[in-house]
Amino acid sequence: MKKIAVFTSGGDSPGMNACIRAVVRTGIFRGLEVYGIQRGYEGMIEGDIKRMHSHSVSNIIQRGGTMLKSARSMEFKTPEGRKKAFENLKALGIEGLVAIGGDGTFTGAKVFFEEYGIPTVGCPGTIDNDIFGTDYTIGFDTAVNTALEAIDKIRDTAAAHDRIFFIEVMGRDAGFIAVECGIGGGAEFVMVPETKTDLNSVVKSLKNLRKSKSSSIIVVAEGDDLGNADQIMNMVKEKIKDPSKEFKVTTLGHIQRGGNPTARDRVLGSRCGMGAVDGLISGKTNCMAGVMNNSIVYTPFGDCIGQPKPLHPDHLALIDILSI
Ligand code: F6P
Repeated sequence: MKKIAVFTSGGDSPGMNACIRAVVRTGIFRGLEVYGIQRGYEGMIEGDIKRMHSHSVSNIIQRGGTMLKSARSMEFKTPEGRKKAFENLKALGIEGLVAIGGDGTFTGAKVFFEEYGIPTVGCPGTIDNDIFGTDYTIGFDTAVNTALEAIDKIRDTAAAHDRIFFIEVMGRDAGFIAVECGIGGGAEFVMVPETKTDLNSVVKSLKNLRKSKSSSIIVVAEGDDLGNADQIMNMVKEKIKDPSKEFKVTTLGHIQRGGNPTARDRVLGSRCGMGAVDGLISGKTNCMAGVMNNSIVYTPFGDCIGQPKPLHPDHLALIDILSI
């Protein structure tokens, strides 16, 4: 293998730049030519692909976002789009790909590999932490810390005014961000898509809690089965029926996707990037390089996207116990 290309696709996440840097520099260190594809599969289809050098990735390890930009490509979902992408890679003689992204990125990579056989290794880049085959995804730690900083601030004002706050965090269909923020932020409740939320028991506990506490923080994962934080707040308010209680909603939104990556995310991005290049060189393909139990492991794309990653069973219990 002489030439490889790297791209980021789907929602960006802090630490993707560290991962790109590791791919470029490991590739060059191992004697490969490395190319960068702009805007993920979109750039592959349009042929927006440039040679990268060691200095191309200087001064990016500390930055959020992705220097290669990202996109969610509709055209790559079509056979015609994938054909164009393949022709562009072939014209440049690219023999291996590193795909940095989440489940959508790996779904595309798997189909592309099955059709055209270009060896591809993925790196788990998403704030959601919903990828099987890695303990954590690149960007998750930063997103949790960003959300936590906001929750700490909201708690100050919640306590000052004796208010009940519903704070909505990202995570798509997964509750990892909500659970870690709930534990770290000392939330009274956390609502996640993985477990069915019994609103009556939340209302009952909230009424009991209110006897001893002046304010409450409820962290709601955006994918919760009962709806968004606003809808849930209205349902709770309706059931509590106490005009003296004040309810507020804050949706944290895209601030969770930006910002300088934490040390954890820089290290994870760097390790996965190097793992992906070394995996390609040693003949691995159609799989993701993740970190489990502090070691690089390669998991087939089919398992990464097909297996639901469960929440840690102790974590929800921990929130219940610590919020008494
Ligand atoms: O997958 C990352 C993520 O930030 C999810 O948490 C969220 O549901 C989604 O992307 C938002 O996507 P967009 O940036 O396209 O609005």
